[in-house]
Amino acid sequence: MTLEGGEGSGKTTQALRLSQSLTAKGYDVLLTREPGGTVIAEQLRHILLRTDSTELLAPETEVLLILAARRQHVAHVIRPALKRGAIVICDRFSDSTFAYQGYGRGLDLKILRRMNDWATGHLSPHLTLLFDLPVAMGLRRRGTASDSNRLDREAGAFYTRVHAGFHALAKREPRRIVVVDARPSPDVVTAQMETLVFARLRRSHFKTDPKR
Ligand code: TMP
Repeated sequence: MTLEGGEGSGKTTQALRLSQSLTAKGYDVLLTREPGGTVIAEQLRHILLRTDSTELLAPETEVLLILAARRQHVAHVIRPALKRGAIVICDRFSDSTFAYQGYGRGLDLKILRRMNDWATGHLSPHLTLLFDLPVAMGLRRRGTASDSNRLDREAGAFYTRVHAGFHALAKREPRRIVVVDARPSPDVVTAQMETLVFARLRRSHFKTDPKR
């Protein structure tokens, strides 16, 4: 299962809460994030998000680094966890690449999909929660965060394209990508999210059962 959304959408907080409540229900849960999740992938994340480099990162280099990190993550962390029957909760995954590098940067989506399929071995989430927030609201929330990264410095139009991109992706795959309204308070968003996830689990969308 993956959590997606623009800057300031609160998905990281919600990912943590979801992993805690699923763990409390007895599920084997792995909470992880992208770019990152392994030592090498976290090093690539540092290169991708650092703000102190004078060398510009070409969009193609950016996507190659993201996919290199994803390959490590899928091979060393995600697939082994799925194999043992765990629920994997990943904070961002392939949809971020399509939204940011495809819709945001303007790279060819067909090429990105092929490269992504190659990098992941065609691994796709069972469920994706898209935390939806108007762009301006997200940037306001994000603006108060202390850990600003390289992509936070993009112009507003970039985020508008990313936001529209996420919606286009959700429209293309409405069963997999479910939009969650991220405007209410975190507790209300958590309740919405949990109702949705628990309902999917009851319909045994995932091939996993609680251990106790
Ligand atoms: P986050 O930890 O706040 O989600 O930040 C990660 C940043 O990396 C965010 O600005 C989006 C960006 N990103 C991409 O541009 N493409 C990707 O495929 C992924 C996973 C992240």
